[in-house]
Amino acid sequence: MVSAVLIIALLLVSLPAWGEQPRQMCQVCHPVHYAERGGCPDCHRGNPSSDRKNIAHAGLIPGKYTYFALGDQPHVKNGNRLIDQYACRRCHVIDGRGNRLAVSLDVAAAGKTPVELAGSIRRPAEFMPDFGMDEARITYLLNALLAGSHRHTTDGGGPVAVHFDTARKKSDVFSIKCGSCHRLLSEKRGALGKGNIGPNLSGLLSNYYPKTFRNSEAWTVRRLKSWLDNPRTIKTGARMRPVILTGQEFSELVDILKVEHAEEI
Ligand code: HEC
Ligand code: HEC
Ligand code: HEC
Ligand code: HEC
Repeated sequence: MVSAVLIIALLLVSLPAWGEQPRQMCQVCHPVHYAERGGCPDCHRGNPSSDRKNIAHAGLIPGKYTYFALGDQPHVKNGNRLIDQYACRRCHVIDGRGNRLAVSLDVAAAGKTPVELAGSIRRPAEFMPDFGMDEARITYLLNALLAGSHRHTTDGGGPVAVHFDTARKKSDVFSIKCGSCHRLLSEKRGALGKGNIGPNLSGLLSNYYPKTFRNSEAWTVRRLKSWLDNPRTIKTGARMRPVILTGQEFSELVDILKVEHAEEI
């Protein structure tokens, strides 16, 4: 009698421990590795309660995108370098920093599968430049995006100010004077322009646009004015012709280019 009570008591004590660590069915098909650093879903996501591959692999992070989980890895460093080089933050919040002109990649990386995200870099949305990334670079980027997202899962995403209303005919100064050659995501007017001859100007007057004025300087309102007056005095052989704007058109342009909802550290 006493021993039966003891066994039940022991069972009750040990039950919560079993509850915390459900058997990981992943191991039905895979050998265990990095066990000292956590369970399979801590690093790979997926669904460890099923022994059916398709269910177990739902939302899986494939091995090549999982290096970030091992701590500061060359993959993450290379990815962060690419994020700076291509100035992804002129449109996206990444690792808590960036403009909110497109969806926050901290939020996207937490909610979508890495395979979906990689597809969005390979075949970019209409207002995202096509960087022609090869698979090695996409792998670095995904590791960096997942690492950043891990550190910022509390980011609610905030308002994405841009509305992608491209059907309506636009009569703002950007669409008329710049839109045949450039595209722009703007906080106030949404997605503007149709051209790909010149660079995508999203975030031009923010901290996150590449420093391309005289090859190494940030763009400012005054520098933009001098560029429009005559690009070739700024950059020899520039392919853009001067664009003549009235004072009023220029202030409207600056207002459209302005970014007020950036995340900075
Ligand atoms: C029924 C067997 C089965 C189960 C259960 C299973 N897997 Fe797999 N897994 C496979 C097979 C087979 C492959 C080989 C590639 C493929 O067919 O997708 C694979 C591939 C993988 C890969 C490599 C994918 C890549 O492209 O790098 C990872 C990571 C992985 N599984 C993790 C998991 C995790 C984590 C779980 C549990 C949540 C799990 N698997 C459950 C059968 C299984
Ligand atoms: C600490 C993070 C971590 C944990 C925990 C972890 N993995 Fe991995 N896994 C990785 C990394 C990083 C890679 C890619 C390179 C490597 O093998 O080190 C990987 C690769 C894989 C691969 C692909 C191997 C190949 O040769 O293509 C499979 C399958 C896999 N893991 C399954 C699992 C399963 C099943 C578990 C749970 C028993 C698990 N992993 C636990 C980090 C982890
Ligand atoms: C000029 C703006 C711009 C730049 C620069 C940009 N993107 Fe995007 N990106 C977008 C837009 C627009 C979308 C479509 C989603 C949306 O409407 O916000 C998008 C979507 C994505 C998605 C899919 C998100 C999801 O929720 O499915 C990923 C991943 C992504 N971008 C990665 C990158 C990376 C990595 C870089 C830098 C190499 C980059 N983007 C640079 C504008 C940009
Ligand atoms: C007929 C096509 C065309 C029109 C119209 C045009 N641009 Fe350009 N723009 C270009 C081209 C091409 C470049 C690339 C110049 C180069 O680097 O040689 C460029 C470059 C730029 C740059 C430099 C960006 C960088 O990162 O180097 C800015 C800024 C710019 N344009 C602003 C504007 C604005 C603002 C307007 C409208 C008021 C405008 N452009 C109208 C074709 C055009």
